[in-house]
Amino acid sequence: MANSTKFLASFLIFLFITFSYAKSHTFSRTISPSTLGLNQQKLSHLHFYFHDVIGGRNQTAVRVAASPATPTSPTGFGSVVMMDDPLTEQPEWGSKEVGRAQGIYASASQTELSFLMVLNFVFTQGKYNGSTISIVGRNTVASAVREMPVVGGSGVFRFAHGYAQAKTYALAELEAVVEYNVYVFHY
Ligand SMILES: *[C@@H]1O[C@H](CO)[C@@H](O)[C@H](O)[C@H]1NC(C)=O
Ligand SMILES: *[C@@H]1O[C@H](CO)[C@@H](O)[C@H](O)[C@H]1NC(C)=O
Repeated sequence: MANSTKFLASFLIFLFITFSYAKSHTFSRTISPSTLGLNQQKLSHLHFYFHDVIGGRNQTAVRVAASPATPTSPTGFGSVVMMDDPLTEQPEWGSKEVGRAQGIYASASQTELSFLMVLNFVFTQGKYNGSTISIVGRNTVASAVREMPVVGGSGVFRFAHGYAQAKTYALAELEAVVEYNVYVFHY
């Protein structure tokens, strides 16, 4: 009797250990938002100027690919450009930098000037330093206002969703200055 009780006890301990072990390796479970410190969702409005310089000493964007048909396409269809564009507080090139736009724009329409934008805004100031907002969208650059979805974010912008509006502020031979208003829900 004593032996079988001992056996049962060890068996239960074995089961307990097995289940605790399994639990720490669970693939998926439901948790409460508070365990990640998520409380009230907030809406932020970010405003800055984006500088895309395609040549010269301060070049920030380089063409990395094209199709054989790109040179003869009226829209430069197939051209792919990688950018690391400064984002500034004021429209002037030398004004305070608040972040960078890092990513790709690619000519994606054969009939109008329209870019596929795939980029991260990475911020460098104050509480936003190191946080990112990811954008995937369509940018018809000749339109007065273009809208692109915010598809996610990191740091301060975890769980981000929202949209960005782009408006051309100034256009020169080598530099485009674009005013951005970004509206983003996050925690
Ligand atoms: C490049 O940047 C420097 C320093 O920021 C500035 O003085 C110069 O005017 C810029 N050059 C052009 C072509 O914008
Ligand atoms: C932003 O973070 C980086 C890396 O942690 C740090 O080197 C830099 O000084 C910070 N910048 C500001 C303006 O806080």
